[in-house]
Amino acid sequence: MTEISRPPSALVEKLEQFRGSDMHDLCDAADHAITDGGGFGWLVPPQRDVMERYWRGVLAVPGRSLFVARLEGLIVGSAQLMRPPPNNEAGAFAATLTTFFIAPWARGHGLARQLIQSVEDEAREDGYDVLQLDVRETQYAALQLYRRMGFVQWGANPIYAKVDGRFLTGYYFYKMLDEARGLPPGPADIPTPPADGAPK
Ligand SMILES: CC(C)(COP(=O)(O)OP(=O)(O)OC[C@H]1O[C@@H](n2cnc3c(N)ncnc32)[C@H](O)[C@@H]1OP(=O)(O)O)[C@@H](O)C(=O)NCCC(=O)NCCS
Repeated sequence: MTEISRPPSALVEKLEQFRGSDMHDLCDAADHAITDGGGFGWLVPPQRDVMERYWRGVLAVPGRSLFVARLEGLIVGSAQLMRPPPNNEAGAFAATLTTFFIAPWARGHGLARQLIQSVEDEAREDGYDVLQLDVRETQYAALQLYRRMGFVQWGANPIYAKVDGRFLTGYYFYKMLDEARGLPPGPADIPTPPADGAPK
């Protein structure tokens, strides 16, 4: 009998609660991404109980949505939509994409693109105008992907992260979620004091 190979099932979902081996698989995927150098802040994987508390916290705190990538049903990566805190009225238009990774062995199946799209769709449905993110200079695949998905780089911080005693630059991106509205004008080179009555 001839075996017909099929592509592995690769899909993204919003996770509301951990079931079955979800927590174990998510921690494993995160451990591998951190060890590979793509940790979201962590440089070495934390103890498993610390990692588990972190993920439980993500589902428990208000203002966050957790999206997970599944390959053949197993969680292999994630991304979060982080909403602005209620006191930030001036910044209430912008949500943030954060904690985005795919385990090294599960890359190349289109899951990262699906994750970003899911975060973006939910931010748009929630009425945010902008999705923003920041990323280390060494995350080449992520940088390519953000640019290809329409994120605009607006700035760089040369002392964004410290890895093995060396400072790394971080890049800042935004994407307008309602394309019809277009991009806001760029910042003036030299800020001028606002006229009386202008927003501060
Ligand atoms: C960035 C990352 C999530 C991509 O995962 P992935 O599973 O390879 O991504 P996908 O299969 O969905 O591919 C997405 C796109 O990226 C491209 N891509 C993947 N790896 C690439 C690389 N090394 N260089 C250039 N492009 C790359 C793919 O060709 C694809 O392009 P397309 O959708 O326009 O055809 C993964 O490399 C990762 O986890 N990196 C470490 C963590 C990280 O950098 N997170 C971001 C921090 S904010």
